[in-house]
Amino acid sequence: MQFDKVIKGGAIVTASDTTVADIGIIGEVISTIGLDLPDEGAQVIEAKGRYVFPGCVDVHTHLDMPFGGTFSSDNYETGTAAAAWGGTTTLIDFAIQSRGKHLQEGLDAWHQKSQGNAFIDYSFHMIISDLPESRVEEMDRLVDQGVASFKLFMAYPGVFMVDDATMFRALLRTRENGGLICVHAENGGVIDVLVKQALAQGHTAPKYHALTRPMSAEAEATRRAIFLAELAGVPIYIVHLSAGDALDAVAQARERGIPVFAETCPQYLFLSYDDYERPGFEGAKFVMSPPLRPKGNEERLWRGLNSNNLQVVSTDHCPFCFDKPQGKRLGEGDFSQIPNGAPGVETRLHLLYDGGVNQGRFSVNRMVDLLATTPARLFGLYPQKGTIAPGSDADLVIFDPEKKHRISHKTTHMNVDYSPYEGREVTGAVESVLLRGRVILEKGTFAGRAGDGKFIKRSTSEPSSLL
Ligand code: URP
Ligand code: ZN
Ligand code: ZN
Repeated sequence: MQFDKVIKGGAIVTASDTTVADIGIIGEVISTIGLDLPDEGAQVIEAKGRYVFPGCVDVHTHLDMPFGGTFSSDNYETGTAAAAWGGTTTLIDFAIQSRGKHLQEGLDAWHQKSQGNAFIDYSFHMIISDLPESRVEEMDRLVDQGVASFKLFMAYPGVFMVDDATMFRALLRTRENGGLICVHAENGGVIDVLVKQALAQGHTAPKYHALTRPMSAEAEATRRAIFLAELAGVPIYIVHLSAGDALDAVAQARERGIPVFAETCPQYLFLSYDDYERPGFEGAKFVMSPPLRPKGNEERLWRGLNSNNLQVVSTDHCPFCFDKPQGKRLGEGDFSQIPNGAPGVETRLHLLYDGGVNQGRFSVNRMVDLLATTPARLFGLYPQKGTIAPGSDADLVIFDPEKKHRISHKTTHMNVDYSPYEGREVTGAVESVLLRGRVILEKGTFAGRAGDGKFIKRSTSEPSSLL
């Protein structure tokens, strides 16, 4: 057998096994996994003493997203290049339906933003902003085009928030078209009252963002979303779950056999409410929704990752600069005007390896499951993405488990002027990355090209089989 590339002697990690072997690549796919594969005429990539992970899959990003009168600061070029530096080779970004417009218009706009610009492979979910009965069948046409999941917001009244009837209509339709509904679960109405009260009392500092979005507002919405899905008889996926009380709702439903799935994000595992108490306006760096929770909550989430009540860690990458116009400072003097979101597309693997595997919280296989395999399965990308197997795309990460480095916005590649993890030391570093057989990062030298990333048409998945 003649291979184009052979990755030699790495410890190949899948969600189930770790095996020291060679990987033979032909063209864009993995051809063979075996011992002492022939390498004459092939490009040899030495991986002895390294892990080889499947390229990570990030199912929650917002690139070039219009939000709060501005745009997230990473576009398809900068955001996907940064993702590659961090070992992510596929992401699913959120396209947006503008109110009163067709879903297709939103999808076309996101194809336009991304086409020819991405450094890694990508796909879309569609944010549904309104869905009268007359528009429901538009969902089917998106599923046909490989956009097999939809996000609905229970928060942000007047912007993205939909009512229960809209959510129920969308859920019901996925019974027909096999799509998956993803929900931002916070009670937007309650939060709106609390925000107005806080501002009326002169509470304008960033920490009031968190104080007006209590855990119970997330737990209530999570329970309601689950009940609506149960009523419709379809699976549901809760995005960026932050609160231990919301996780309890997910766990109880799963215990009853309801196909509920949920992701959390590194920010909820590594940061806390205390970050809002930083001096001056610093707390704005951490303004995101749901907000960071009090210390101790993160342990409940780590337990959820272990018990499989949380199945995915995504990033919710939605960066806004701190000190540049049109960034976080839009909310100086009024916390409710701070653009919501934080950077993270590049730092997820490093944080989870260090905080999860190195700290003995879970195995390296479980980490691969959370960052690559289950996200790919749930969102119709598997086995093309999310694993290392013959026939899968040769999206691979060679990872040095010993290398120490410090996270800083000065050394990461996201288009943002701060890191929420500034100065944090981690052990374990991405060394090389392959995208469909092409080396796009090799020991610190970036060889990615804008336009190499292609749109991946996703199939519908069967989440219930993963319960
Ligand atoms: O604060 C956040 N999470 N910003 C991005 C939009 C969203 O709700 O996911
Ligand atoms: Zn959200
Ligand atoms: Zn988000």
